[in-house]
Amino acid sequence: MSEELAKEIKKRRTFAIISHPDAGKTTLTEKLLLFGGAIHVAGAVKSNKIKKTATSDWMEIEKQRGISVATSVMGFDYEGYKINILDTPGHQDFAEDTFRTLTAVDSVIIVVDVAKGVETQTRRLMEVCRMRNTPVIIFVNKLDREGRDPFDILDELENELKIKVTPLTWPINIGAKFKGVYNIYEQGLDLFTPSKQTISERIEIDDVNSPLVDELIGESDAVKLREDLELIEGVYPEFNEQSYLEGKLAPVFFGSALNTFGVKELLDCFVKIAPSPKPVVAEERMIKPEEEQFSGFVFKIHANMDPNHRSCIAFVKVCSGKFERNVGYRHIRTDKVMRFAAPTAFMAQKKSVVEEAYPGDIVGIPDTGNFKIGDTLTSGEVIHFKGLPSFSPEMFKYIENADPMKSKQLEKGIRQLMDEGVAQLFTSSFNGRKIIGTVGQLQFEVIQYRLLHEYGAQCSWEPISLYKACWIESEDQDALDAFKKRKHQFMATDKEGRDVFMADSNYVLQMAQNDFPKIKFHTSSEF
Ligand code: G4P
Repeated sequence: MSEELAKEIKKRRTFAIISHPDAGKTTLTEKLLLFGGAIHVAGAVKSNKIKKTATSDWMEIEKQRGISVATSVMGFDYEGYKINILDTPGHQDFAEDTFRTLTAVDSVIIVVDVAKGVETQTRRLMEVCRMRNTPVIIFVNKLDREGRDPFDILDELENELKIKVTPLTWPINIGAKFKGVYNIYEQGLDLFTPSKQTISERIEIDDVNSPLVDELIGESDAVKLREDLELIEGVYPEFNEQSYLEGKLAPVFFGSALNTFGVKELLDCFVKIAPSPKPVVAEERMIKPEEEQFSGFVFKIHANMDPNHRSCIAFVKVCSGKFERNVGYRHIRTDKVMRFAAPTAFMAQKKSVVEEAYPGDIVGIPDTGNFKIGDTLTSGEVIHFKGLPSFSPEMFKYIENADPMKSKQLEKGIRQLMDEGVAQLFTSSFNGRKIIGTVGQLQFEVIQYRLLHEYGAQCSWEPISLYKACWIESEDQDALDAFKKRKHQFMATDKEGRDVFMADSNYVLQMAQNDFPKIKFHTSSEF
């Protein structure tokens, strides 16, 4: 292994911040960039955050998403580390994008609002992290506002996110009386002054029983703090880096992103404990980042919505070796050698052409339809990286051709949009009709618009009442055949040709499970 490569890998930290909308992801991202010197004023990040006013107007949303290509990945240097933050769309209708982004990160920071606790989207995203054993750090935000008791929050994190937690900082009051946090990890007191720009100063404390603590935060708060810390010591495990790296223990920080409070503590701890790029399991073998030969995969495709420039950016995560501009790489699915003249890197909100990139880095490749989500590029070896399984969509509609002269265009459009990961396609085994499954209503609008503007095809939607798509399997082929025959009206295939049972209600699904005990039903495509 070359020393240069090893050094580059070791200093990389590639992660995503995930949260339920409004918990403070954008604010936290911005503050991290401020510390990295990547931006100089607050308010400079136009991230993938979609403004609330625009929730019903997806064109507006797309405009905002368009602006945010440059902020899809935000790279910056901090204390000798190269940090890559992968942005994820806040809007829940684009949750699939977020799932896929999670395949490209080595760790995750979860932001939780102290008043709201764990919310739906966080729960779902955590399921994906658990599937992949992604190391997780939790930031409990908005301590400057009234909120819940921190012990309650810890309980909820543990129960709802199904992960062991241990606090590394501990708040002294919250809301109007919030005085700061005690840093359990580094033994010190960080006192709070409400301010958007300044950074709190650390007061080193050897012993929390020191009278200095009473002096700084007042006697009654000092007494409470000592009691809390004793309880924490008794109830929560000591922080263990290995457990964190295995995705079994999540350290918890408390702070206020808006006030830049607790953010530096989080970042300093993050760079120390968060993993550098890890080996990636491919179908053929495990690929280690320090291997000399380049490999990487496409985890996201960002389409340009401007019909005059029908181009996309394929986001490639470098998994091993060094990626170089203008070097020929093998596109495994099509078995073509491709060279990239203008690969871009994302540093500090700016896109610029890069000469080289290392494991953990994300390279943007301008594309006109050569890439699909999950495609692998290598120096030559045939490798297939495992993608993320598909999850059952929440909403379903039949897609119909509304312009018979354009059926070819419609076919092509649907195929390409599905390759891009815009939604999921199922084909009914009963009547051959195409069913599109999405996470939210907006995706239907996006598909219709894009089919028209990019492919000149017109589609219409017809309602179909479905509850879940369940991938089925059985060790008993006869049982499987019998089930498919009995339920043939409700059977479909996904785009890989796998059998899917389209249950029209929870009741029907439960009945099917009872009546066909030899069949296993899965709500994701990997089992
Ligand atoms: P998101 O990306 O997770 O959706 O959340 P975002 O950072 O946009 O934060 C949502 C709202 O919460 C914003 O207010 C933001 O200013 C506020 N916020 C974030 N961190 C804190 C905090 O530590 N304390 C308090 N009190 N508020 C916080 P907004 O009014 O919705 O938007 P804006 O007009 O301020 O941008």
